[in-house]
Amino acid sequence: MKLDKKSHAVDIKNAARALKSGSLVAFPTETVYGLGADALNRGAISRLYSVKGRPLGHPVIVHISSWSRVELWASEIPHYAYEMGKQFWPGPLTLVLRRQFLAEDFITGGQENVALRVPSHPIAMELILEFEKLGGLGVAAPSANRFGKVSPTTALAVEAELGELLNDSDQILDGGPSIIGVESTIIDCTNATPLILRPGGITIEMFETALGIRLDYVSNSSQEIKVPGSLKSHYSPSAEVLLSGTPGPGDGYIAMADIPTPKGVIRLATPNDLEEYAHSLYEALRTADIQGLKKVFVVQPDYQGVGVAINDRLIKSAGK
Ligand code: TXA
Ligand code: MG
Repeated sequence: MKLDKKSHAVDIKNAARALKSGSLVAFPTETVYGLGADALNRGAISRLYSVKGRPLGHPVIVHISSWSRVELWASEIPHYAYEMGKQFWPGPLTLVLRRQFLAEDFITGGQENVALRVPSHPIAMELILEFEKLGGLGVAAPSANRFGKVSPTTALAVEAELGELLNDSDQILDGGPSIIGVESTIIDCTNATPLILRPGGITIEMFETALGIRLDYVSNSSQEIKVPGSLKSHYSPSAEVLLSGTPGPGDGYIAMADIPTPKGVIRLATPNDLEEYAHSLYEALRTADIQGLKKVFVVQPDYQGVGVAINDRLIKSAGK
């Protein structure tokens, strides 16, 4: 299918109808673009998996319009999860909770937990609200990339990733570049204390300031819940991502703006701060592939703020 900015960017009611009738709708969120499907429609979810090339059994996040919808999908909600939802929704936070019966195995990967998020991007929010008006209860949406690849942060990147796999009734909504640029923070809320499963747009410092709790992020490998991002190679461009070593002429390079570009090296991003780094990272990796680069050398940012999420993605994209 072709990206039609004019009609698809504005006709959200039409997109909601497409979702309700079982089609796929890629839409912008503040983190990355998602590939949406009706979370109650087994057939639509099965197509979603095949378009993404995602192995069955990996759970997807259900996007809802507000906290008031949580109890449709989840139960046994701990108090700290309420506090997190109150502070950070709508926003780049995903809560993993004990599932209610609506969350079927084809959404949860057969686990007893469901992941829920209220996104803040106005187009995502409007789409979900319109979908709910039609009787929809949640929009399942993984990042709109092929499995294991870099998440798209523009509608054009979605088109490049998935365009040929979508059909005429599917849609791609264009909402401009995603502001944050890395995915939501995922919190496991199924125990007495919260656990970060994936660092993201809501940072450890933000939780500490808002809730007075210090969460640590330990690498996913020891966690029981299946998180595809925990596979060793993920968020990967075709180019090899290297986190050490010296780039040579013709290699790509990503580093903070104050680090000069070595001679003959192709600079892919020059972020001035961690937010800019997150915002530009995936597009920079995509540009490396478009330019046919073989290697991208990356100078990792500090492990603070959104830098924790950036480093998590960099380590996984280098892990092949
Ligand atoms: O920012 C985001 O979260 C984006 C936008 C589109 O909302 N979505 C996204 O979805 O990143 P995806 O599928 O690419 O990554 C979601 C992660 C996966 O690693 C998945 O395993 C994990 O969330 N997840 C989903 N449901 C889960 C569950 N029930 N328990 C544990 N992890 C879950
Ligand atoms: Mg993803």
